Amino acid sequence: MSQAGGGGPGAVFAGGGPGAVFAGGGPGAVSVSVGGGPETGPAGPARPRVVLGVSGGIAAYKAVEVLRQLTESGHDVQVVPTAAALRFVGEPTWAALSGHPVATDVWTDADAVRHVRLGREADLVLVAPATADLMARAVAGRSDDLLTATLLTARCPVVFAPAMHTEMWEHPATRANVATLRERGVLVIEPAVGRLTGADSGAGRLPEPVEIAAFARAVLARGPAGVRADLAGRRVVVSAGGTREHLDPVRFLGNSSSGRQGYALARAAAARGAEVVVVAANVALPDVAGVTTVPVVSAAQLRDAVLAAAKDADLVVMAAAVADFRPADPRAHKIKKTDGAPAPVVLLPTADVLAELVSDRAPGQVLVGFAAETGSPGADVVTLGRAKLARKGADLMVVNEVGDGLAFGTPDNAAVVLAADGDETVIPRTTKELLAHRVLDLARAKLAGQPDVGRDTGARVTSPAEGL
Ligand code: CTP
Repeated sequence: MSQAGGGGPGAVFAGGGPGAVFAGGGPGAVSVSVGGGPETGPAGPARPRVVLGVSGGIAAYKAVEVLRQLTESGHDVQVVPTAAALRFVGEPTWAALSGHPVATDVWTDADAVRHVRLGREADLVLVAPATADLMARAVAGRSDDLLTATLLTARCPVVFAPAMHTEMWEHPATRANVATLRERGVLVIEPAVGRLTGADSGAGRLPEPVEIAAFARAVLARGPAGVRADLAGRRVVVSAGGTREHLDPVRFLGNSSSGRQGYALARAAAARGAEVVVVAANVALPDVAGVTTVPVVSAAQLRDAVLAAAKDADLVVMAAAVADFRPADPRAHKIKKTDGAPAPVVLLPTADVLAELVSDRAPGQVLVGFAAETGSPGADVVTLGRAKLARKGADLMVVNEVGDGLAFGTPDNAAVVLAADGDETVIPRTTKELLAHRVLDLARAKLAGQPDVGRDTGARVTSPAEGL
């Protein structure tokens, strides 16, 4: 079992506290509801506007990658560094990568009244890294530079990703500032546990840029209520990737699953407060911070790992593409061409993990399968998915159409989620991150119907977006 690098166990992100109020998102903020209205994302007509505040900590260099990730997903990012941040990463880097001029004070281009305009026009203000000093100034309502002035004028969701030494993070002054920010509705991401500036390590590390960017995109698309800690206290197991059945030590029967959808599910569940184990079959993606990753190769290994992790899980999502057959006689040594043509490969069935989960199901446990279908002459993908759901006995079946460049290895996905009670939810093409959140919305609704719902201790953000 490998612990994800840099991340501690448990929830990485915590929602704002009660009583927080947001004015609704700007033009780029999109409401997404279960059951699905239209979704427009960064590819839509209005590019969501993000102000990326960067304060003066060594982790400022990681904000360059956050900027890159957000611009590459189509966001219009305006960087507002503090003067101290420029001691770590220079102005030309921010300007060139964002495509916008950069200022730290309120006097530059005064005619543009940037200290008011930036905050007003933003769909999201993301501060990464947020130093102890920046948070203290934000709590005090200071407006002595462009970033703090922008924070005062912003009426959109605000996300802080703190980074500092453990002593500073744990100091009562910082604890109180974080609490105040959360009470005001700021979404403060828990820092990761891991290597700090020098040889030391502890809590206070900036989460990886991919995690911060994913969280920012989820807040933009779903509103702050869509990323609240509504899975806090829940244990979630996700299988991801594709299994490999070896013919010999170098050759295998495999499939094209990249693990992206499974990892998006793991990341989304962790962001919503769940304790997550991801059983990863041959996934070449960075570990998800705050999630326990169990690497496996074959269907048999995946079965053992999933069944072990599922014992005390509230929710199991089988997103992995699991081999149905394995070679009966895998060779211990490489099959040599010089030995002539090998005998035909005889295949034996593997265990059906989802079916086993259903038959050993713990009381109240919710089980979700994925059905990757190409359709066939007599049946469309939904008909095939409905038959598969009935055959396996899961609670939900996420039906994907695959083939012709669909689903496998792509950043986006579309699905129809079929429920055992007959419900059918269409999720139009969207990012795998947002699809993951939608699937979790549906699974959570099933969990809420279970008697152990009392374990939901998630902090709530009260905002106009509540109830989306
Ligand atoms: N699955 C599993 N164990 C297997 C095969 C599949 O747990 N040995 C799970 C997958 O993780 C997925 C669901 O079952 O959640 C459906 O997988 P899929 O490959 O679409 O279906 P199969 O059962 O293999 O049926 P078919 O090959 O006929 O499509």
